[in-house]
Amino acid sequence: MSKETSKIRLQVAKNYPELCKQVVQNILALSRNAIAAHGHFSILLSGGATPKGVYALMASPEYREQFQWHKIHFFWGDERWVSADDAKSNYRMATEAILMKADIPPQNIHPIRTLDGTLETAAAVYEKELASFFDLRNGECPRFDLILLGLGQDGHTASLFPGDPALSETNRLVAAVSQKEMDPAERITVTLPVINHAAVIFFLASGREKSQALKTALEGKGRQLPAQQVNPPNGEVWWFADQPAASLLRKGQGESS
Ligand code: 6PG
Repeated sequence: MSKETSKIRLQVAKNYPELCKQVVQNILALSRNAIAAHGHFSILLSGGATPKGVYALMASPEYREQFQWHKIHFFWGDERWVSADDAKSNYRMATEAILMKADIPPQNIHPIRTLDGTLETAAAVYEKELASFFDLRNGECPRFDLILLGLGQDGHTASLFPGDPALSETNRLVAAVSQKEMDPAERITVTLPVINHAAVIFFLASGREKSQALKTALEGKGRQLPAQQVNPPNGEVWWFADQPAASLLRKGQGESS
């Protein structure tokens, strides 16, 4: 892992399986460093489809035994307002891909609880979860060892969408979102202050349909896309993309493998 901070790194893999392998190897290295440094590894999971292969590979026989699961704490960057067993649930996706396959203590799994009360109360409950685990005082932000983020074709990340009020939230750690063109429209998301307080952020982008958003995110001027507003002053941002997603980038960008 690079020692420089707030520097953006790009790793381009020839295909999705190779991307997953690169991501898992770096998560494993980060987890070992974090556990050695402060006794645990806190990871904020991304939802959507792209990270599924990463989670499955982490729990595969090839890697499962290398992780110190009892010292790893799993949180979610966002959750759809559906039941935990709904096919659209990010919790269900991660549970099926990794949490039920690896020997992870239940107390290490910190889901965003849905359908109890309102979106706003659920957001407040998750803020309390973060405050408790990270022992936060008023106004403090959690510092995740690693935050995994996906990239939407519109440049959204987590459930922070272009123009959404949650994107400009600077006080709350967790916000309620309603984006009618998304399915489902209602979501809970961590806010930019949480994301930009991370030690390390891994963005994952796979497929040609992400090529324009990735080009704008990495080469565009300004900060119009939510993904462009991810810029941790005391952290590192690594982009992991496969060649189709990276196909519009200026040649020579990133380390290819
Ligand atoms: C979600 C994610 C969201 C996702 C992007 C990319 O809950 O859907 O948090 O930000 O990462 O929409 O999704 P894909 O990986 O499915 O393309």
